Amino acid sequence: MKIIVLHGGVSNKPELMGKVEEYAEIAIEKSEPLEAVVEAVRLMEDDPLFNAGTGSNIRIDGSIQMDAAVIVPGDFGAVINIEKVKNPVLVARDVMLKSPHMILAGDGAVKFARKMGYESYDPSTKKAMEKRDRILNRLKNGEIPEYYHPEFFKEFLGDTVGAVAFFDGKYAAAVSTGGTGLTLRGRVGDSPIPGAGIFAGEKGAMVATGIGEEIVRRMLSIRVYSKIGKGRIEDICRQEIESFGDIPTGIIAVANGKPCAISNLSMPHAIVLR
Ligand code: GLY
Repeated sequence: MKIIVLHGGVSNKPELMGKVEEYAEIAIEKSEPLEAVVEAVRLMEDDPLFNAGTGSNIRIDGSIQMDAAVIVPGDFGAVINIEKVKNPVLVARDVMLKSPHMILAGDGAVKFARKMGYESYDPSTKKAMEKRDRILNRLKNGEIPEYYHPEFFKEFLGDTVGAVAFFDGKYAAAVSTGGTGLTLRGRVGDSPIPGAGIFAGEKGAMVATGIGEEIVRRMLSIRVYSKIGKGRIEDICRQEIESFGDIPTGIIAVANGKPCAISNLSMPHAIVLR
């Protein structure tokens, strides 16, 4: 039995559902769940309509710093604030499989990526630059609520991509993000923090999307994981997402062979079973 669940970010456009479904159909063809989630996230990183890899959000200072992570029960790999690479998720996978470490950050992550053969790449797009300028101008003019206000994020989040898979009893998850709408250089969200934006164990796998600070505060993924077996996974996820009130948040999960995708705002997603 094979199950894969993908999301293209809470607050991202519902019209992207078709693309996410297309990528899920490609990824489920892989034989291992880790390969499948990495492929799913790589496809979304390469699509500039998602906030990960190409098309990532641009920070206040004009730089692009990305976070990505992969997890299987008992192992983890992540890159934090990596710059100038095409596919952060591939580097995170290599950190897990080809380095003695679990997390590499900043210039160390970039150097590792180069050693692994990933060439220098500019993930910026015209659309992302225009988005940054638009947010800055509207903030300066007092036209939108202050940063870190739910109304602000409803308009500008377009957050994160992720995938969870369960293939023949084995779980895996992967996540990648350009970070929330407009942040300081060096800021880290939930995505590369195990237990916050991503988790997988012998009972299931999950990936969150939303405002990293809020997700880390609640340790959303490990909270969901710790409740597996105490009701339907869909109900557990819904209850946790409801606790965020109007703060845009979503989660995808698979546990005990059951998938779900729950959010409190539009979140293009796909669930495919074979
Ligand atoms: N959810 C992604 C972030 O806050 O960076």
